[in-house]
Amino acid sequence: MGSYTAPVGFFIALAILAYLGHAELGYHNGQFSPGVYEPYADLRSIPKSGGEVNPVDEGRVVYAQLCSACHQPNGSGNPANGCPPVAGSDWVLEEGPARLIRIVLNGAKGPIMVNGKEWGSPVGMLAFKDALSDEQIAHVITYIRQSPEWKNNAPTVTAEMVKSVREKTSSRGAQWTSDELMKIPTAVE
Ligand code: HEC
Repeated sequence: MGSYTAPVGFFIALAILAYLGHAELGYHNGQFSPGVYEPYADLRSIPKSGGEVNPVDEGRVVYAQLCSACHQPNGSGNPANGCPPVAGSDWVLEEGPARLIRIVLNGAKGPIMVNGKEWGSPVGMLAFKDALSDEQIAHVITYIRQSPEWKNNAPTVTAEMVKSVREKTSSRGAQWTSDELMKIPTAVE
């Protein structure tokens, strides 16, 4: 038996499809960045929004990747899995970010009052201390505090503030409880 040879026309059709696919992707490039939807082995490699560093825009990218699945893209939270709202949240809008930074570093567990309503899931919120840099944590918290989409408006959080809290809490492994957090002054010393 001679070896099987695929018809030449098949390869030409493939080449045309490949070309069209490419052109299609190029066409959409202005509207979305395909990179944003790829899984990241290393979360620190999440692409920046490009151009000058704007903490709110950088933070929006981190939020979409890591927080929106639970807290929802519009920040409303999700009663189905106990994730509280971050849009308009009294925790998010606190004058100082000392508690917020702790929540993102180590996660939080167990009943928590947000805007007068009790929330919480059996597993709580996971820790991001090993996954995110000081800068990324500062950006994502600044985003949830200043998101123009949610009309939140609270002061900016800097990487230096995150570094200071990270150092102070470095020996802690457990998630925070709301009772513990309430005892910590909101200002970062
Ligand atoms: C796996 C789901 C999940 C993910 C992912 C998650 N959270 Fe949470 N988050 C929760 C839960 C659940 C709570 C309530 C914790 C508790 O029970 O004490 C919470 C609480 C909070 C709170 C305090 C309460 C409030 O709603 O204001 C903030 C702020 C917050 N999360 C921000 C973030 C940010 C920023 C990210 C991304 C870096 C994030 N979360 C990722 C589930 C999640």
